[in-house]
Amino acid sequence: MSKGSLKDMALETLLVHGGHKPDPATRSLAVPIYQTATYGFDTVDEMNASWDRTGLVYSREGSPTVYALEEKLALLEGGEAALCASSGMGAICSALLSVLKRGEHLLCSEEVFSHTGVFVKEFLVDKMGVDVSYADFRDVENVMQNIRSNTAVLYTETPSNPSLGLVNIQAISRIAKENDCLFIVDSTFAPPPIQRPLELGADLVIHSLTKYINGHGDTLGGAIIGPKSIIENIHFPGMPCFTGACLSPFNAWLIMRGMMTLDMRIQRHCENALAIASFLEQHPLVDLVNYPALPSHPQYALCQSQMHGMGGGIVSFWLKKKIGGLELAEANKKLLDSTRLMTIATSLGEGCTLIQIEHSGMIRIAVGLENKDDLLRDLSQALDSLAG
Ligand SMILES: Cc1ncc(COP(=O)(O)O)c(C=O)c1O
Repeated sequence: MSKGSLKDMALETLLVHGGHKPDPATRSLAVPIYQTATYGFDTVDEMNASWDRTGLVYSREGSPTVYALEEKLALLEGGEAALCASSGMGAICSALLSVLKRGEHLLCSEEVFSHTGVFVKEFLVDKMGVDVSYADFRDVENVMQNIRSNTAVLYTETPSNPSLGLVNIQAISRIAKENDCLFIVDSTFAPPPIQRPLELGADLVIHSLTKYINGHGDTLGGAIIGPKSIIENIHFPGMPCFTGACLSPFNAWLIMRGMMTLDMRIQRHCENALAIASFLEQHPLVDLVNYPALPSHPQYALCQSQMHGMGGGIVSFWLKKKIGGLELAEANKKLLDSTRLMTIATSLGEGCTLIQIEHSGMIRIAVGLENKDDLLRDLSQALDSLAG
């Protein structure tokens, strides 16, 4: 509970106190789960007043539990306002459908989460008539060269999924401002304390709350954070309301609870991931390791400045093209089948370490919160199995 402004407080304090006010009806200190579809009133005037004041008339349009999470998220990223959605994809689709018009140009990063890429291509381009082209956002010049007179939005992830390329948020923000475009950053792989895109000039930051922010692998969620004027337009007349991609009060509550430990969890994810990346880099069966906090990463310097030297919790790597009699695909499969602690699964940002093979043949480890020596032993015995 906090009686004053939290604006200038440190991250750990914001994570504990942000959005947590005693419930006005009961003084419950934990934010209650308002598990209701609708709200009842004694008079029409009361209903209209509630609509104007708080938007609390129907849960697809607003919920006090979700509002509390949105307040916490806005503090987390240093934005004026936040809007939650039922998943990261709900947030991405809501943002892009709301800020783009037919005939406007979206300049999209070449490497984005696969479903974001499919949505852009198959819905925005093929069905909605948005003009889309792609640029290598790691290269500031390449972004500049691809701006057109009708460019309305620049969209990227950093670090990107799954190759962990970094985008210089400050430099691209400058280009966006000079060209009167909106710059949207999906920062799912690097939540605070790693980076805060709005402070570096981005207009909107997006998170899949499913990942690190909730951190417990037990719910989906998404959020868009930024200036009040843009967030209000995405909210109404906007997307979570009309597509129904709104966050449920229970899921908002779980995410808020998970967020209290975000700072500590991120530190552990990063320590464990750096240990695994360093181990893999010196292993004779490994061809290439991507991890932004390794000095060998081509954008190591940007990781130091933009991400406070924290590489995040994802490590991706390539095995050698041929190991003994095994082709790459066979070796990948054998490696994953041989892990005992790491779980074969697609997601990231939770306690359990998850491992998967990408379509390209690269392996991605979403490093969890286990003891790092136990993880290293598991990986080491799985790699040993390839030689045998
Ligand atoms: C970078 C990134 N953004 C967005 C998403 C989508 O999130 P969700 O699964 O919550 O819809 C993902 C999912 O893996 C992701 O990796």
